[in-house]
Amino acid sequence: MTAASAPGKIILFGEHAVVYGRPALAVPVTEVHADVEVTDSPQPGIWIDAPDISLQAELTELADAHPLSVIIIGTFKAVGITYKLPLKIHIHSTIPVASGLGSGAAVSVAIARALSAHLGLPLSDDQVSQLAYGTERLYHGTPSGIDNTVVTFACPVYFVKGQTNETLRVGAPFTVVIGDTGIPALTKESVADVRRLWEEDIPHWEKVFDEVGDLARRAREAIERGNASYLGELMNLNHALLQTMTVSSPDLDRLVHVARSTGALGAKLSGGGRGGNMIALVKPERAEIIANALRTVGARNTIITTVQ
Ligand code: MEV
Repeated sequence: MTAASAPGKIILFGEHAVVYGRPALAVPVTEVHADVEVTDSPQPGIWIDAPDISLQAELTELADAHPLSVIIIGTFKAVGITYKLPLKIHIHSTIPVASGLGSGAAVSVAIARALSAHLGLPLSDDQVSQLAYGTERLYHGTPSGIDNTVVTFACPVYFVKGQTNETLRVGAPFTVVIGDTGIPALTKESVADVRRLWEEDIPHWEKVFDEVGDLARRAREAIERGNASYLGELMNLNHALLQTMTVSSPDLDRLVHVARSTGALGAKLSGGGRGGNMIALVKPERAEIIANALRTVGARNTIITTVQ
């Protein structure tokens, strides 16, 4: 048996603008993860067992464009094995699906790692990330690559599409409360809607994306210096720009508002938006209180995580 796992993720700054080449910051969330086990199978075929999404199937029963099929076949190709050994792939994930926490990327990364290791030809992190990017395209249409990068390397990243990954240095640990609206974040749609807006008025949206990029750069400095209160202000500004991109929602705005009014240093939506998660930067001693307040006004779930 060969096992691998990959964490969830949150985007701290720069979602959507990152698709247009601006920098973004993202961090892993180890409180949730995708775990994959690969074993030899007594029966011929590649058997997939994913109870969280009620899926039990042999690989050939899945559509060619099914993300699980794409990552499994992609991994076989990447290691250079053309025949399919009889295997069983068990997938379990505690990352809520379509919540903006990178569940698709984490499952892909864990499969590519566990499967390539089981075949005796473990792939490098760069290869794993590249394979996961292929499946992100199925989920997101035109992904920037930030999700597969942060999930693969499992460390805070300063990400610019098409450039070498840079690890984000965290000057002083900080605490984030993640609040889940419980409404699916349809990232593919929100990314496509932002593209439509951009196509209608490129000069205007390029300016907005520049402002977001500027916030991400200032946030990087604030994180490196450990300046949490300034970081919170930058989060609020980033949320306002995301609202103008039409990717917030009444539920996200409510959770953001409640987080701020119960003492968060700043709050914003995180990821594709319209649903999914918001994040609040909090003093550690306020984390439980703010998480409770979010649940009281309808957050389906909250996670308290420390970025370090
Ligand atoms: C999704 O987690 C982040 C977006 O910026 C899309 C992407 O970068 O691929 C909305």
